[in-house]
Amino acid sequence: MTGNIEQIRKIAEERYCRADFKYHILPVVKNALLLAEKLEADLKVVETAAYLHDIGRASEREEYKASNDHHLLGAKEARKILEDLGCGKEFVEKVSYCVLTHRGRKEPEPESLEEKIVACADAMAHFDCFLDVFSFFLRSGDSFESTVEKMEAKMDRNWNKKLTLPEAKEIARPKYEAIRLLIESMKEYIE
Ligand SMILES: [Fe+2]
Ligand SMILES: [Fe+2]
Repeated sequence: MTGNIEQIRKIAEERYCRADFKYHILPVVKNALLLAEKLEADLKVVETAAYLHDIGRASEREEYKASNDHHLLGAKEARKILEDLGCGKEFVEKVSYCVLTHRGRKEPEPESLEEKIVACADAMAHFDCFLDVFSFFLRSGDSFESTVEKMEAKMDRNWNKKLTLPEAKEIARPKYEAIRLLIESMKEYIE
């Protein structure tokens, strides 16, 4: 059994803060479904994992820590949520592995198609909602200059490390290139 996606969405909406749900989780779900349909992956696994992939940091978004372990915490939490909903063992395993491997710079790396899709969709959402990420860093207390620097590193890391599927790169390319162009332009004045 895979669980009702409306129930999963409701749990996600309750757990994440409003901005996180609206400007990160929903864009991840959108991109994950786009890729899953294109690549004929398991839609239920991908959609459920997209909603739950950051559940391990749902309660601490306002106190973001760069080196946190939310993928580990999230994999456990996702497992618990799905078991409580009565989902089957195989489905729970698949979803919790997608959560565990979604970060791209933390072990383990995504392996299955569904795991790769969730990691790619996470990166694509950062491009889609670039300005939300930017304002989030600023609100976390970084200076404007260091935020520009951090954004550049984050966007490059997303592009180079997380977008392992060529189909994801193809969709994200115009946004990544636009972001790079604007960051380069800004750097001319702050360096
Ligand atoms: Fe994450
Ligand atoms: Fe995420």
